[in-house]
Amino acid sequence: MLLATQYLGLSLKNPLIASAAPLNAQLDHLRALEDAGAAAVVLPSLFQEQIEAEAAIHEHIMNSAAHNSPEASTYFPQTASGPYGVGPDAYLDLIHRARAAVAIPVIASLNGSSEAGWIEYAKMMQQAGAHAIELNMYFIPIDIELTGQNIEDRYVGILAAARRAVSIPLALKVSPQVSAFGNLAQRLHANGADGLVLFNRLLQPDIDLATLRLTQGVHLSTRAEMPLSLSWIALLAGRCGASLAASTGVEEADDVIKYLLAGADVVMTTSALLRHGAGHLTGLLNGLETWMEARQFASVSDLRGLMSWSRSRHKEFYGRPSYMKMLETGVTG
Ligand SMILES: Cc1cc2nc3c(=O)[nH]c(=O)nc-3n(C[C@H](O)[C@H](O)[C@H](O)COP(=O)(O)O)c2cc1C
Repeated sequence: MLLATQYLGLSLKNPLIASAAPLNAQLDHLRALEDAGAAAVVLPSLFQEQIEAEAAIHEHIMNSAAHNSPEASTYFPQTASGPYGVGPDAYLDLIHRARAAVAIPVIASLNGSSEAGWIEYAKMMQQAGAHAIELNMYFIPIDIELTGQNIEDRYVGILAAARRAVSIPLALKVSPQVSAFGNLAQRLHANGADGLVLFNRLLQPDIDLATLRLTQGVHLSTRAEMPLSLSWIALLAGRCGASLAASTGVEEADDVIKYLLAGADVVMTTSALLRHGAGHLTGLLNGLETWMEARQFASVSDLRGLMSWSRSRHKEFYGRPSYMKMLETGVTG
């Protein structure tokens, strides 16, 4: 049975990738993911804010030295370690060490929201040995004067700067909250995105009614969050040129199969691995193989995209007619 897959021009042994997560900064965990069958790993993100903080520290130290007042440097933190305790320099070292620890492709992740000097860091990630870069554009348009065009232009601007900085493959992890995602997907591909990761999960605050405070936390996803990514994968498969990575809600092998049938080139998972451990990947792969065997699919490319919008004989399921029908036939579940 042939599970081999192409993603961003990389040859992968199967379509399962461990998506960005804090544990992926630990070499033991990366080895466990590889042993369990992961075809590639995405390192946790290095954030624009970390790179800019580090640059500010360096600039301050240089200025202090120039003015001969080293004591002033105590006002500044000496590192920009960020949420995972891995600062910009340590991140490059992590890429080196990850490359040495595992034989599968290592994808670095750069996370930011505006076009500025931090994007140049992508070049250092390439030099450190990353096989590809996943650029996570986590942007929340709080400014209500911003138009959809402004936001899409911002995405394209960041991408174009990253594309100029590196020659390795670039994937973009994006939010579905744009006015015309299909058109944006085409523009991103035309401007140098080799692949799209659908989707970023936006972490929004909640309200604690007991304390009347805003609360925030990272919750693991559930399968109930899959349909948005699933439908956009199905709508874009074979139509926008970019590799498509499905990310959100995978819990069992059935979810992997659904994403592949919709047209995903690869399927990523984080929450299920945090919930069940790296070994869960083996179960996902075994489940995929068992299903393929039962249905007599010899390779993943035979099933990929069978249920996508382009190839579906029931295109109405993706559009307004099914909306009407669903409301007529009633609520399920
Ligand atoms: C604890 C945690 C940390 C994460 N850290 C990152 C990160 O550093 N960069 C990133 O692009 N995504 C990050 N993500 C998002 C995941 O990579 C993934 O896209 C998301 O959780 C949806 O996939 P899932 O449903 O399989 O969890 C994180 C998710 C979790 C749960």
